Amino acid sequence: MTSFKEDVLSRRTFAIISHPDAGKTTMTEKLLLFGGAIRDAGTVKGKKTGKFATSDWMEIEKQRGISVTSSVMQFAYNGFNVNILDTPGHQDFSEDTYRTLMAVDSAVMIVDAAKGIEAQTLKLFKVCRMRGIPIFTFINKLDRQGKLPLELLEELEDVLGIQSYPMNWPIGMGKEFFGIYDRFNKRVEQFRTEEADRFLPLDEDGHIASDHPIKQSSLYTEAMEDILLLEEAGNEFSREKINSGELSPVFFGSALTNFGVQTFLETYLQFAPAPQPRTADTGEVDPLSEQFSGFIFKIQANMNPAHRDRIAFLRICSGKFERGMAVTLARTGKTTKVSQSTQFLADDRSTVNEAVSGDIIGLYDTGNYQIGDTLTGGKPVFQYEKLPQFTPELFVKVSAKNVMKQKSFHKGIEQLVQEGAIQMYKTVRTEEYILGAVGQLQFEVFEHRMMGEYNSEVRMEPIGSKIARWVENEEDIKDSMSSSRSTLVRDRAGKLVFLFENDFALRWFQDKHENIRLYNLMG
Ligand code: G4P
Repeated sequence: MTSFKEDVLSRRTFAIISHPDAGKTTMTEKLLLFGGAIRDAGTVKGKKTGKFATSDWMEIEKQRGISVTSSVMQFAYNGFNVNILDTPGHQDFSEDTYRTLMAVDSAVMIVDAAKGIEAQTLKLFKVCRMRGIPIFTFINKLDRQGKLPLELLEELEDVLGIQSYPMNWPIGMGKEFFGIYDRFNKRVEQFRTEEADRFLPLDEDGHIASDHPIKQSSLYTEAMEDILLLEEAGNEFSREKINSGELSPVFFGSALTNFGVQTFLETYLQFAPAPQPRTADTGEVDPLSEQFSGFIFKIQANMNPAHRDRIAFLRICSGKFERGMAVTLARTGKTTKVSQSTQFLADDRSTVNEAVSGDIIGLYDTGNYQIGDTLTGGKPVFQYEKLPQFTPELFVKVSAKNVMKQKSFHKGIEQLVQEGAIQMYKTVRTEEYILGAVGQLQFEVFEHRMMGEYNSEVRMEPIGSKIARWVENEEDIKDSMSSSRSTLVRDRAGKLVFLFENDFALRWFQDKHENIRLYNLMG
């Protein structure tokens, strides 16, 4: 039996971030295979094969072959308990992704060696930097010709503004890929070889110890020159800098051929942080403290069409969760017993009886929870820091196509909005529904789910991009201030918001109504 402290310290909770197609799904599946969490990885979500990654849940994801929602998976490896949170990798983006990054202690960034750093990675990366969490980089697809490794490192440092430390270095690439020179484990790992010959030890000078023919090749000489350069002019390895997110350990490999993945996993587990303290309104909360606490970072309805349920995802920040325990919802002060909880094992959900700091559990929800809610066991009751909310930029008017089906329309809209990927407003004058999102795809997902899950066909009328500004001094607002260029709406909490047509309309309004104080959410 392990102690509570050992249990917590064995947790590693991370998110995988990448640009679409860099190989996130492939990597996730390979990691899960090592953990024995899935038996058959298939070849990831196959647009062609019809097989889908276990992390791709929803219908729309299947149709499009993309991951839309973030999902959670857990597996055990070498005495560690690993929680992987998948983040949507598509161009389009939602608050869900940002919030997922709030629930982890580190991030793994997958980069396609041929493409280098792409826009989406940059966006996600910025959020990780904002939180100061450690970022590990896996440069993928070495079985194909890509950019030169030094060029990739330079890009990482220039575009992302982070220092890098290559833990290993490729010898050749594409057709000529021989393997990786493992600086950290002091060995060469061969690609396309039998398991028994996989590792070649190094001698004292850092060269392959045996008389392997590769030593005579220009590929080897070039790689050794690069490595010498890194030793002399590269960054120094620093655990502190990794922990503060200033230095990213870089690994090379190929997820598809399962090359370098195990080495990555084992090294990653040595350096990735165990659950970190979180800030609450009562101060910092130690993950090793006995009192159970956690926050909800995601709510999702109908995750599994066979279940027709809604699940709130909770990151445990301290103490131990036990099924049936009484927890208090800080927002309402209400205490309830949690009897239905679930943990996410790759291809199935199983009931969780116990979980500790660092774990992510799913709680069945009948509408009690909201994103950002804190749950605590016993006293004191406290609230974790607010999760970031982003100002939506795109808006559509939405209504039910069939007026006879208002009930399912309202139910659907209410539930999907509670999940947090889209925001809902009502125009003050006409009480029409307006939806706001950070990216276009959220609307498509909404429309699709309204039909698929609530049998409600919706009419969506795009009203384009707007600048949303909340009002501080609502008492000074007059009806006449609302116009076609500055539509006055209320958000879900009843707060007044202006949707300005453009920058010009915003400035014009501010000049004209100097007494009205407007503010922006994050974004
Ligand atoms: P994503 O989740 O980041 O979007 O990427 P995903 O894992 O789905 O991988 C995108 C594509 O890249 C897939 O091919 C996948 O097989 C391929 N891939 C992943 N890792 C490697 C690698 O190490 N080497 C090579 N050569 N390819 C890799 P696809 O043809 O788009 O997928 P599919 O149509 O077979 O589903």
